[in-house]
Amino acid sequence: MATWSAPGKVFLFGEHAVVYGKPGIAMAIKPRVMVTVRHSRFYQKPNSPYIAECFRILDIKGSVYVRSQLPSASGLGSSAAVTVATLFAINDEFSLGHSREELAALSHEVEKITQSGHASATDTYVSTYGGMVLIRSGEKRRLIPPENFSIVIGNTLVSHNTAEMVARVADLMQNSPKIADPIMDSIGAITMEAMHNMENHKELGILMNRNQALLDALGVGHPALSHLALAVRSAGAYGAKLSGAGGGGCIWALCSKGNKNRVINAIEDCDARPIVTSIDTEGVRKEKDE
Ligand code: PMV
Repeated sequence: MATWSAPGKVFLFGEHAVVYGKPGIAMAIKPRVMVTVRHSRFYQKPNSPYIAECFRILDIKGSVYVRSQLPSASGLGSSAAVTVATLFAINDEFSLGHSREELAALSHEVEKITQSGHASATDTYVSTYGGMVLIRSGEKRRLIPPENFSIVIGNTLVSHNTAEMVARVADLMQNSPKIADPIMDSIGAITMEAMHNMENHKELGILMNRNQALLDALGVGHPALSHLALAVRSAGAYGAKLSGAGGGGCIWALCSKGNKNRVINAIEDCDARPIVTSIDTEGVRKEKDE
């Protein structure tokens, strides 16, 4: 029996645009998914398409048990975390000998196959290595996390479907490139500005709000996300934007230490769920078997 865990993430800047070669920044967070895999004569096809694909791609049959601290379908990377932890657990339990790099690349493959070909390497990379990362086309770079990066996540409790949102954007790219292309360029420019202003919270907040407006323009907003973003900004957050595919799921707000509680209260007043967390620098890891 082998148990591995992998962290979720917040998509700080550049989601959707990252699928089209623009830069994206994501940060691993503390909540994790734990996956136990063991040899078993009784193989039952897993319910999760991500887990089923992990077993298929490695040509292995075994049993699997999952526990998650992450809400699913909410933009916090739970599918990537489950994929990464499952591949590492299978690799360990069946002594397959794949390296961390190979398993990170395979995790991206699994996400691509499960999401009909459209998936950037962001979620699986950040879940494998932890920390804060910049992803652009083939390039993957770990960033030095800024000091005093105080965030609060707000879960709208409206679940979303990543594949559906990604397909919606693909439609817009195909049918209205004159509208979609400049939006993607602007999101890319915002992400690069953000990378150079990580310590400047005021500026970063303005960039978050601009990124959120452009995600709305792409058609991946949701009234519950807008409501939550406006509420936390009114409560004093520097900025707020959705995380991940949109159409529901979570927002993240950049706070000062002094206004964190006000932001948490504002989220609760919207009947949404606050998640207070911070960066996870570790990435995927082996857990003790219970
Ligand atoms: O909603 P999530 O956590 O699956 O994030 C999706 C992020 C996208 O940029 C929309 C897709 C991708 O593969 O990067």
